[in-house]
Amino acid sequence: MIKKYISSQRNLFNKDLKKFFDSYRTSNILQTAMWYSLSNGGKRLRPILLAEVSKTLGMKKSDYLNMMLATELIHCYSLVHDDLPSMDNSLLRRGKKTCHIKYDEATAILLGDGLQSLAFEIITNNELNLDDRTKVNLCNKLAQAIGFKGMVAGQMMDLISEGRYDKFIPDKKFIIQTQRLKTGALIDFSLQAGGIIGGAKKSELEILSGFGKRIGLAFQIVDDILDATSNEEDLGKTADLDSKQGKVNFVTLLGLEKSRK
Ligand code: IPE
Ligand code: IPE
Ligand code: MG
Ligand code: MG
Ligand code: MG
Repeated sequence: MIKKYISSQRNLFNKDLKKFFDSYRTSNILQTAMWYSLSNGGKRLRPILLAEVSKTLGMKKSDYLNMMLATELIHCYSLVHDDLPSMDNSLLRRGKKTCHIKYDEATAILLGDGLQSLAFEIITNNELNLDDRTKVNLCNKLAQAIGFKGMVAGQMMDLISEGRYDKFIPDKKFIIQTQRLKTGALIDFSLQAGGIIGGAKKSELEILSGFGKRIGLAFQIVDDILDATSNEEDLGKTADLDSKQGKVNFVTLLGLEKSRK
């Protein structure tokens, strides 16, 4: 039942995403590559969570569609950069070649940059039916969630855990913080953004954020379990990378059984 519902919401979102991008795009290489990174499948978890919260608070699509798009643009940018040779060096994403393999590294870096700024552009343009104060608040919270104290910090901690910079022995606390930032922060933001758009009270936003933090952590633990136990075909991305790269996460630190628990 819930799977069917999520799948229908994903289909609707994919149509909206295509319509949105078609209205922007010409056929130059950067824009073609941006579309390649956006269109290639994906669960669309973050925009779906955002929309569900806004809908529950009585909002309509014109109040939140651009915010849904923005969270997915940011997420896709993070995946493209995450896959780069200098980061996770991954060849496959969502069942297709990663962007730096399909195009080249420079294009992958630039398309990620392009997606990130486009996200802020579409939160602040006139198509999003929200007052300016709310838009500024959303931009501010999004910038914090994905920035040097948020997602980007988590990605750096993930690389530090590999021991690339200094000899470093991460513990459970470090890993939880890494996961919360690299994955949890954008999921937490998506839920809170749904609430902000719907005029949620501070106490309600705190509840959404608590949910977002826990779901974010659980989501990354499952991602790490799948990396270790699943195959490339089912995952649609290069499998068994984490242990090869010496990443420290729940699975590599505590083992599968404890991670599942
Ligand atoms: C992958 O995110 C990266 C992580 C944060 C674990 P998703 O598992 O949401 O990736 P897509 O969007 O469905 O491909
Ligand atoms: C990626 O985590 C998190 C972000 C992109 C911010 P992973 O490196 O574990 O994601 P996958 O396994 O490549 O999808
Ligand atoms: Mg990574
Ligand atoms: Mg990765
Ligand atoms: Mg992973």
